[in-house]
Amino acid sequence: MKELIVSSTNEGKIKEIRAMLKDLGIEVKSLKDVYETVPEIEENGKTFKENALIKAKYVADELNKVVLADDSGLEVDALDKKPGIYSARFLGHDTSYDIKNQYIIDAVKGKDRTARFVCAMALVIPGRDPILIEETFEGEINDCIDGENGFGYDPIFYYPPCKKTSAAMSPEEKNKYSHRGKALRKLYKILKEEL
Ligand code: IMP
Repeated sequence: MKELIVSSTNEGKIKEIRAMLKDLGIEVKSLKDVYETVPEIEENGKTFKENALIKAKYVADELNKVVLADDSGLEVDALDKKPGIYSARFLGHDTSYDIKNQYIIDAVKGKDRTARFVCAMALVIPGRDPILIEETFEGEINDCIDGENGFGYDPIFYYPPCKKTSAAMSPEEKNKYSHRGKALRKLYKILKEEL
């Protein structure tokens, strides 16, 4: 079976990417599947696209294989687009999302609630120019934590057209509207041809 390595250990992301690519009949592998000791890749870019490229290139160069990376995060307008590229590290890497999510709810009380998820994807095929895509999922910060699905900031991300948070959506519904779903649909044809 053909494989695609995703330069991530984030189970939430990998699960979504695997579900969206299931019709390609490929094995979607995380860094935990291909390394005995997962390398620490320093994400020192200033943008989602730069960080996605850093993560994909590092692994593609080491393994000489096709690698996809997703760098994503939540931009809250009332917080000057924070946590942005620091979403995973916001308030500390090991802080629970219940704490991070409640912090954001409290921080936007009485303020503009608009927010978006951003997803940059980098696809590195050895010997070819990297392909970079960026997509957004526009919504608002909910006034409470709500929903059991998804991961990370999904329980506070309210999507007005569906009148619910992305954590209250089914996986299929989230993929239809999400930053990651849109980005991956743009890469789908290339992946189908190249893998
Ligand atoms: P990265 O692994 O450095 O790209 O960090 C991504 C972080 O952004 C995740 O750990 C979450 O905190 C947040 N994030 C990105 N996409 C989503 C999503 O679809 N739902 C919820 N949180 C997300």
